[in-house]
Amino acid sequence: MRLLEVEGLSKSYRQTGGDSTLAVHEISFQVDRREFVSIVGPSGCGKSTLLMCIAGLIPPSSGTVRVKGVEINGPPQNLVLVFQEYNRSLFAWRSVLGNVLFGLEVRGKISREAEEKARHLIGLVGLEGFERHYPWELSGGMQQRVAIARALAYEPEVLLMDEPFGSVDALTRLELEDTLLRLWKDLRTTILFVTHDIEEAVYLSDRIYVLSRRPSRILLRMDIHLDRPRNQLSTRSDPRFVELRNEIYRQISDETIK
Ligand SMILES: Nc1ncnc2c1ncn2[C@@H]1O[C@H](COP(=O)(O)OP(=O)(O)OP(=O)(O)O)[C@@H](O)[C@H]1O
Ligand SMILES: [Mg+2]
Repeated sequence: MRLLEVEGLSKSYRQTGGDSTLAVHEISFQVDRREFVSIVGPSGCGKSTLLMCIAGLIPPSSGTVRVKGVEINGPPQNLVLVFQEYNRSLFAWRSVLGNVLFGLEVRGKISREAEEKARHLIGLVGLEGFERHYPWELSGGMQQRVAIARALAYEPEVLLMDEPFGSVDALTRLELEDTLLRLWKDLRTTILFVTHDIEEAVYLSDRIYVLSRRPSRILLRMDIHLDRPRNQLSTRSDPRFVELRNEIYRQISDETIK
Protein backbone atom coordinates (compact mmCIF):
# COMPACT_ATOMS: atom_id res chain seq x y z
CA MET A 1 0.00 0.00 0.00
CA ARG A 2 1.19 3.49 -0.87
CA LEU A 3 1.89 5.84 2.03
CA LEU A 4 0.46 8.91 0.30
CA GLU A 5 -1.73 8.85 -2.79
CA VAL A 6 -2.99 11.97 -4.50
CA GLU A 7 -5.51 11.20 -7.19
CA GLY A 8 -7.06 13.58 -9.69
CA LEU A 9 -6.78 16.51 -7.32
CA SER A 10 -8.18 19.83 -8.59
CA LYS A 11 -8.80 23.04 -6.71
CA SER A 12 -10.52 26.19 -7.84
CA TYR A 13 -11.04 29.26 -5.69
CA ARG A 14 -14.19 31.30 -5.92
CA GLN A 15 -13.31 34.99 -6.29
CA THR A 16 -15.40 37.87 -5.06
CA GLY A 17 -17.72 38.70 -7.92
CA GLY A 18 -18.47 35.07 -8.65
CA ASP A 19 -15.61 34.11 -11.02
CA SER A 20 -13.39 31.24 -10.05
CA THR A 21 -9.65 30.66 -10.40
CA LEU A 22 -8.51 27.15 -11.22
CA ALA A 23 -5.26 26.73 -9.30
CA VAL A 24 -4.60 23.00 -9.50
CA HIS A 25 -5.79 20.72 -12.29
CA GLU A 26 -6.06 16.93 -12.01
CA ILE A 27 -2.84 16.18 -10.19
CA SER A 28 -2.02 12.57 -9.35
CA PHE A 29 1.11 11.14 -7.77
CA GLN A 30 2.24 8.83 -4.98
CA VAL A 31 4.85 8.89 -2.28
CA ASP A 32 6.21 5.75 -0.66
CA ARG A 33 7.55 5.38 2.85
CA ARG A 34 10.97 6.99 3.40
CA GLU A 35 11.06 8.73 0.04
CA PHE A 36 12.12 12.34 -0.40
CA VAL A 37 9.86 13.78 -3.08
CA SER A 38 9.85 17.38 -4.30
CA ILE A 39 7.39 19.44 -6.26
CA VAL A 40 8.81 22.32 -8.30
CA GLY A 41 6.91 24.85 -10.29
CA PRO A 42 6.85 28.51 -11.25
CA SER A 43 5.69 31.18 -8.84
CA GLY A 44 1.93 31.30 -8.39
CA CYS A 45 1.27 27.98 -10.15
CA GLY A 46 -0.57 26.40 -7.23
CA LYS A 47 2.12 24.65 -5.16
CA SER A 48 0.90 25.92 -1.78
CA THR A 49 -2.68 25.18 -2.77
CA LEU A 50 -1.73 21.60 -3.58
CA LEU A 51 0.12 21.16 -0.29
CA MET A 52 -2.70 22.69 1.75
CA CYS A 53 -5.17 20.30 0.14
CA ILE A 54 -2.88 17.38 0.97
CA ALA A 55 -2.53 18.63 4.56
CA GLY A 56 -6.32 18.76 4.81
CA LEU A 57 -6.28 22.50 5.57
CA ILE A 58 -8.49 23.33 2.58
CA PRO A 59 -10.84 20.97 0.76
CA PRO A 60 -10.03 20.04 -2.86
CA SER A 61 -12.72 20.81 -5.46
CA SER A 62 -12.37 17.27 -6.74
CA GLY A 63 -10.05 14.31 -6.34
CA THR A 64 -8.81 12.49 -3.28
CA VAL A 65 -5.87 12.29 -0.91
CA ARG A 66 -5.24 8.98 0.86
CA VAL A 67 -2.79 8.22 3.63
CA LYS A 68 -2.13 4.49 4.07
CA GLY A 69 -5.25 3.83 2.02
CA VAL A 70 -7.54 6.03 4.11
CA GLU A 71 -9.09 9.06 2.44
CA ILE A 72 -8.56 12.25 4.41
CA ASN A 73 -11.08 14.99 5.01
CA GLY A 74 -9.87 17.55 7.52
CA PRO A 75 -6.34 17.80 8.93
CA PRO A 76 -5.08 14.28 9.62
CA GLN A 77 -2.93 13.64 12.68
CA ASN A 78 -0.21 12.00 10.66
CA LEU A 79 0.72 14.86 8.30
CA VAL A 80 2.42 18.05 9.41
CA LEU A 81 3.11 21.14 7.31
CA VAL A 82 6.14 23.42 7.75
CA PHE A 83 5.70 26.86 6.17
CA GLN A 84 8.16 29.33 4.71
CA GLU A 85 7.40 32.03 7.24
CA TYR A 86 8.97 30.71 10.42
CA ASN A 87 8.42 34.03 12.18
CA ARG A 88 4.69 33.56 11.84
CA SER A 89 4.55 29.86 12.63
CA LEU A 90 6.45 29.76 15.94
CA PHE A 91 4.79 30.77 19.20
CA ALA A 92 6.51 34.00 20.26
CA TRP A 93 5.56 33.53 23.91
CA ARG A 94 7.11 30.08 24.16
CA SER A 95 10.78 29.22 24.43
CA VAL A 96 12.50 26.91 21.95
CA LEU A 97 11.78 24.00 24.31
CA GLY A 98 8.19 25.18 24.78
CA ASN A 99 7.65 25.38 21.03
CA VAL A 100 8.95 21.86 20.43
CA LEU A 101 7.04 20.51 23.44
CA PHE A 102 3.85 21.89 21.94
CA GLY A 103 3.93 19.15 19.31
CA LEU A 104 4.12 16.55 22.07
CA GLU A 105 1.49 18.21 24.28
CA VAL A 106 -0.94 18.12 21.38
CA ARG A 107 -0.44 14.37 21.25
CA GLY A 108 -1.12 14.14 24.97
CA LYS A 109 2.46 13.41 25.98
CA ILE A 110 3.23 15.86 28.77
CA SER A 111 5.77 13.98 30.76
CA ARG A 112 9.43 13.87 31.60
CA GLU A 113 9.78 11.56 28.63
CA ALA A 114 8.26 14.23 26.37
CA GLU A 115 10.76 16.79 27.58
CA GLU A 116 13.63 14.41 26.96
CA LYS A 117 12.35 13.79 23.48
CA ALA A 118 12.00 17.52 22.81
CA ARG A 119 15.57 18.10 24.01
CA HIS A 120 16.77 15.29 21.79
CA LEU A 121 15.07 16.85 18.74
CA ILE A 122 16.52 20.26 19.60
CA GLY A 123 19.94 18.62 19.62
CA LEU A 124 19.28 16.93 16.29
CA VAL A 125 18.50 20.24 14.60
CA GLY A 126 21.69 21.72 16.05
CA LEU A 127 20.21 24.01 18.72
CA GLU A 128 21.55 22.44 21.89
CA GLY A 129 22.07 25.21 24.45
CA PHE A 130 19.25 27.36 23.07
CA GLU A 131 16.37 25.55 24.81
CA ARG A 132 15.45 28.56 26.97
CA HIS A 133 15.75 31.15 24.21
CA TYR A 134 12.70 32.79 22.67
CA PRO A 135 12.11 32.92 18.90
CA TRP A 136 12.98 36.61 18.64
CA GLU A 137 16.41 35.89 20.13
CA LEU A 138 17.26 33.56 17.23
CA SER A 139 18.31 34.09 13.61
CA GLY A 140 15.89 33.18 10.82
CA GLY A 141 17.70 29.93 10.08
CA MET A 142 17.62 28.96 13.77
CA GLN A 143 13.91 29.70 13.96
CA GLN A 144 13.29 27.44 11.00
CA ARG A 145 15.28 24.71 12.77
CA VAL A 146 12.87 25.09 15.72
CA ALA A 147 9.89 24.82 13.36
CA ILE A 148 11.37 21.61 11.91
CA ALA A 149 12.00 20.14 15.38
CA ARG A 150 8.44 20.99 16.40
CA ALA A 151 7.03 19.36 13.26
CA LEU A 152 9.11 16.22 13.86
CA ALA A 153 7.81 16.02 17.44
CA TYR A 154 4.44 15.06 15.99
CA GLU A 155 6.15 12.02 14.44
CA PRO A 156 4.33 12.64 11.18
CA GLU A 157 3.97 9.87 8.61
CA VAL A 158 4.77 12.52 6.02
CA LEU A 159 6.49 15.83 6.67
CA LEU A 160 5.09 18.40 4.24
CA MET A 161 7.29 21.44 3.64
CA ASP A 162 6.26 24.56 1.70
CA GLU A 163 9.37 26.49 0.59
CA PRO A 164 10.77 26.12 4.09
CA PHE A 165 14.11 27.73 3.23
CA GLY A 166 12.77 30.56 1.09
CA SER A 167 13.37 33.28 3.67
CA VAL A 168 16.95 32.61 4.72
CA ASP A 169 20.24 33.70 3.17
CA ALA A 170 21.98 31.47 0.63
CA LEU A 171 24.61 29.95 2.94
CA THR A 172 22.11 29.22 5.70
CA ARG A 173 19.93 27.61 3.09
CA LEU A 174 22.66 25.14 2.13
CA GLU A 175 23.23 24.29 5.81
CA LEU A 176 19.51 23.74 6.39
CA GLU A 177 19.31 21.48 3.33
CA ASP A 178 22.04 19.28 4.77
CA THR A 179 20.46 19.25 8.23
CA LEU A 180 17.18 18.20 6.67
CA LEU A 181 18.81 15.38 4.70
CA ARG A 182 20.52 14.12 7.85
CA LEU A 183 17.23 14.16 9.81
CA TRP A 184 15.40 12.46 6.97
CA LYS A 185 17.94 9.65 6.95
CA ASP A 186 18.39 9.26 10.70
CA LEU A 187 14.70 9.46 11.60
CA ARG A 188 13.64 7.42 8.55
CA THR A 189 10.96 9.91 7.77
CA THR A 190 9.10 10.67 4.53
CA ILE A 191 9.22 14.18 3.08
CA LEU A 192 7.14 15.97 0.47
CA PHE A 193 8.97 19.23 -0.25
CA VAL A 194 7.72 22.18 -2.30
CA THR A 195 10.17 24.66 -3.80
CA HIS A 196 10.56 26.91 -6.81
CA ASP A 197 14.33 26.33 -6.65
CA ILE A 198 15.12 23.61 -9.20
CA GLU A 199 18.65 23.01 -7.93
CA GLU A 200 17.42 22.62 -4.38
CA ALA A 201 14.90 20.01 -5.56
CA VAL A 202 17.54 18.05 -7.48
CA TYR A 203 19.98 18.23 -4.56
CA LEU A 204 17.50 16.90 -2.01
CA SER A 205 15.20 14.49 -3.77
CA ASP A 206 14.68 10.91 -4.86
CA ARG A 207 12.03 12.10 -7.28
CA ILE A 208 10.71 15.41 -8.58
CA TYR A 209 7.36 16.37 -10.06
CA VAL A 210 7.59 19.47 -12.21
CA LEU A 211 4.44 21.55 -12.38
CA SER A 212 3.25 23.76 -15.23
CA ARG A 213 2.08 27.33 -14.89
CA ARG A 214 -1.37 27.84 -13.38
CA PRO A 215 -3.55 25.88 -13.46
CA SER A 216 -0.84 23.48 -12.46
CA ARG A 217 -0.59 20.03 -14.00
CA ILE A 218 2.32 17.63 -13.75
CA LEU A 219 4.61 18.36 -16.72
CA LEU A 220 7.29 15.88 -15.88
CA ARG A 221 8.30 13.23 -13.36
CA MET A 222 12.00 12.89 -12.82
CA ASP A 223 13.80 10.21 -10.81
CA ILE A 224 17.04 11.41 -9.26
CA HIS A 225 19.62 8.66 -8.94
CA LEU A 226 22.47 10.76 -7.60
CA ASP A 227 24.58 9.09 -4.90
CA ARG A 228 23.84 9.64 -1.23
CA PRO A 229 24.96 11.11 1.06
CA ARG A 230 24.84 14.23 -1.07
CA ASN A 231 27.43 16.92 -0.80
CA GLN A 232 27.01 20.58 -1.62
CA LEU A 233 30.24 20.68 -3.62
CA SER A 234 30.58 17.27 -5.25
CA THR A 235 26.87 16.61 -5.89
CA ARG A 236 26.24 20.03 -7.37
CA SER A 237 29.24 19.74 -9.68
CA ASP A 238 28.39 16.17 -10.80
CA PRO A 239 27.63 16.28 -14.56
CA ARG A 240 24.45 14.25 -13.92
CA PHE A 241 23.27 16.95 -11.50
CA VAL A 242 23.86 19.63 -14.11
CA GLU A 243 22.06 17.60 -16.78
CA LEU A 244 19.01 16.98 -14.55
CA ARG A 245 18.82 20.65 -13.64
CA ASN A 246 19.09 21.68 -17.30
CA GLU A 247 16.40 19.22 -18.35
CA ILE A 248 13.96 20.68 -15.81
CA TYR A 249 14.81 24.25 -16.89
CA ARG A 250 14.22 23.28 -20.51
CA GLN A 251 10.81 21.80 -19.74
CA ILE A 252 9.68 24.78 -17.69
CA SER A 253 10.92 27.35 -20.20
CA ASP A 254 9.46 25.49 -23.22
CA GLU A 255 6.14 25.55 -21.46
CA THR A 256 6.44 29.27 -20.69
CA ILE A 257 7.17 30.15 -24.31
CA LYS A 258 4.19 28.14 -25.66
N1 LIG B 1 -7.36 31.79 -0.61
C1 LIG B 1 -7.35 32.05 -1.90
N2 LIG B 1 -8.42 32.62 -2.52
C2 LIG B 1 -8.42 32.88 -3.83
N3 LIG B 1 -7.39 32.61 -4.67
C3 LIG B 1 -6.30 32.05 -4.12
C4 LIG B 1 -6.21 31.74 -2.73
N4 LIG B 1 -4.99 31.19 -2.48
C5 LIG B 1 -4.35 31.15 -3.67
N5 LIG B 1 -5.13 31.66 -4.66
C6 LIG B 1 -4.77 31.73 -6.09
O1 LIG B 1 -4.39 30.45 -6.54
C7 LIG B 1 -3.25 30.52 -7.39
C8 LIG B 1 -2.14 29.63 -6.85
O2 LIG B 1 -1.65 30.15 -5.61
P1 LIG B 1 -0.60 29.36 -4.71
O3 LIG B 1 -0.33 30.20 -3.54
O4 LIG B 1 -1.09 27.98 -4.50
O5 LIG B 1 0.67 29.31 -5.70
P2 LIG B 1 2.19 28.96 -5.36
O6 LIG B 1 2.69 28.12 -6.47
O7 LIG B 1 2.32 28.43 -3.98
O8 LIG B 1 2.86 30.41 -5.45
P3 LIG B 1 4.28 30.92 -4.82
O9 LIG B 1 5.35 30.33 -5.70
O10 LIG B 1 4.20 32.40 -4.97
O11 LIG B 1 4.35 30.44 -3.42
C9 LIG B 1 -2.87 31.99 -7.50
O12 LIG B 1 -3.41 32.50 -8.68
C10 LIG B 1 -3.55 32.62 -6.29
O13 LIG B 1 -3.94 33.93 -6.57
MG1 LIG C 1 3.40 29.10 -2.30
